[in-house]
Amino acid sequence: MSASFSSAPRTALVTGAGKRLGREIALGLARAGWRVAVHYRSSELEALQTAQECLALNASTQSLDPQHFIFQADLADEAATRHLLPMVLKQMGQVDAVVNSAALFEHDDVQSFSYTNMAQHWASNTGAAIVLAQALHQHCQQRNSPTKPASSASAAGLAAGLAAGLAAGLAAPHSDAVVINMLDQKLWNPNPDFLSYTLSKAALEAANTLLAQALAPFVRVVGVAPGLTLTSHMLDEDKFKQLHKLSPLGRSSSVEDVVSTVVFAMHNRAITGTTLLVDGGQHLMKFERDFSLM
Ligand SMILES: NC(=O)c1ccc[n+]([C@@H]2O[C@H](COP(=O)([O-])OP(=O)(O)OC[C@H]3O[C@@H](n4cnc5c(N)ncnc54)[C@H](OP(=O)(O)O)[C@@H]3O)[C@@H](O)[C@H]2O)c1
Repeated sequence: MSASFSSAPRTALVTGAGKRLGREIALGLARAGWRVAVHYRSSELEALQTAQECLALNASTQSLDPQHFIFQADLADEAATRHLLPMVLKQMGQVDAVVNSAALFEHDDVQSFSYTNMAQHWASNTGAAIVLAQALHQHCQQRNSPTKPASSASAAGLAAGLAAGLAAGLAAPHSDAVVINMLDQKLWNPNPDFLSYTLSKAALEAANTLLAQALAPFVRVVGVAPGLTLTSHMLDEDKFKQLHKLSPLGRSSSVEDVVSTVVFAMHNRAITGTTLLVDGGQHLMKFERDFSLM
């Protein structure tokens, strides 16, 4: 693992980590030595379970109270989203990464499209990811700023602070912090189902590039786009298995494929402003409908 700002274990906030992929990403990161802040909206018990399992993976954290590692926020609510990173910082001291995994995934199409549905998807899936990236960037800037003497506004003060910071071993601004945005192979293999969800993820994919430009050198920004990985209430097990095989490689992504890609992207300090597609090549195909409606 790369050098961090301090000797403390690196900390990642994973959104939507009570269940499904978010939970698996949280556990994968804990296995890789990260401290994990588990975000949830309504799945409190599941979030507690995720936090407990993350803590149990490391001998030095086994006795800690999982209640202190779970954080509630409705990401559709901007004020609640802006409060999230400060809550984690208060509890855990530092944050080095945010994995934007939580997502609203409700069906609409061009017939049922409404401003309301679009706004909910945009706020939960796009706006929240940007606000959390912004907050991580501000936190990294503050951590990287040299110790400020009382007269920090003056050039001499800044120079003195910089010298003091370097003498104290503080690194120059670098890209040790990272945001992972969970995207979807559907963006490269579009169909008109889940219109608002797709538009919100398309905006997040564009934001991935813009954020990587704007937040360098402090924060890297990487997209991870799974293919069909987990089934949903709209797909029975047999249909899921059948659809999972629909890809050039004969299988879409497993949970392990997605988790290992997130961990890889978080550790590789040369990757930013791009998306890793983990889908068995599904994005190379053309599906007329969403999986759940095929
Ligand atoms: N699963 C797949 O096969 C697949 C395929 C392609 C892409 N992806 C992407 O991978 C990510 C994870 O997928 P998933 O299937 O695990 O997601 P999911 O089950 O659809 O949703 C994960 C969590 O998101 C949280 N969430 C939704 N709206 C929220 C809001 N307004 N505020 C806060 N939390 C909210 C919910 O938390 P609570 O339960 O706590 O309310 C939910 O448990 C998503 O970004 C998805 O787009 C998944």
